[in-house]
Amino acid sequence: MPPQRREDALFAWFEKLHGPTWGSVLDSGTGDHSLAWLHSLAPRELTAVTVENWRLPSLSTLAPGVRVVLGQWTDPALLAGEKFDVVLADYVLGAIDGHAPYFQYGFLERIRPHVADRLYLVGLEPPPRDGSVLDEVCRLRDAAILLAGHRCYREYPRELVLSWLDRAGFDLIDSSSFANRLGERFVNGQLDVAVRKLPHFRDRAVAAAFEAHIAELRTRALDAVPMAWGSDWVIAAKVRA
Ligand SMILES: C[S@@+](CC[C@H](N)C(=O)[O-])C[C@H]1O[C@@H](n2cnc3c(N)ncnc32)[C@H](O)[C@@H]1O
Repeated sequence: MPPQRREDALFAWFEKLHGPTWGSVLDSGTGDHSLAWLHSLAPRELTAVTVENWRLPSLSTLAPGVRVVLGQWTDPALLAGEKFDVVLADYVLGAIDGHAPYFQYGFLERIRPHVADRLYLVGLEPPPRDGSVLDEVCRLRDAAILLAGHRCYREYPRELVLSWLDRAGFDLIDSSSFANRLGERFVNGQLDVAVRKLPHFRDRAVAAAFEAHIAELRTRALDAVPMAWGSDWVIAAKVRA
């Protein structure tokens, strides 16, 4: 039995556009959210790729029997020669810099031979640099990631991704933007990332100062939400004949 379908406006947008029949599907950067949705659509075949080992146990519990592949898109052998009716890239472009720096600029060309028909993309507009408390939350998260010696995600505007798609040989079907209303889950999620980075700081005094600052900002941000801030985009494209 597929899991209960989640209420998600972005995924609902694709479902409306696509119709009821899903053939072979590739989740090109998988996670609990995208895999649960795709599994609920009962496609003929479902393959999911991630480069992160820690995701595997929950993915196989969530979607038993689905083919989950641990692999790196920079590796030419990954899914070599395989094609899928639909390829989903759900928050993948923004995540690639954390796993394969600069490869996001070649990702659409890399994925193209695997797309028999449709490529569906979901992404986050770069966070507004507006001095709001949620802007502070995101900047503090990224500062902690950098001081830990790790790499941040890098998000891209929809217009830029549309121009990359054209150059990579895809024709646009449709695209849309969804304003975000963010709450406690967002604030706690981002600041918890910052907390998890503290043990990696070289300077313990800086880590202690960050810890106090994270706690102070958490209180302020939780008082300010829910808040309309930033947006997500969705793009549906087709391989150019
Ligand atoms: C932000 S997560 C995507 C969220 C996911 N769709 C969900 O439902 O939660 C990014 C995914 O892309 C994968 N990824 C990022 N860069 C990758 C790369 N270079 N090769 C393979 N997978 C990659 C990550 O391992 C992860 O599974």
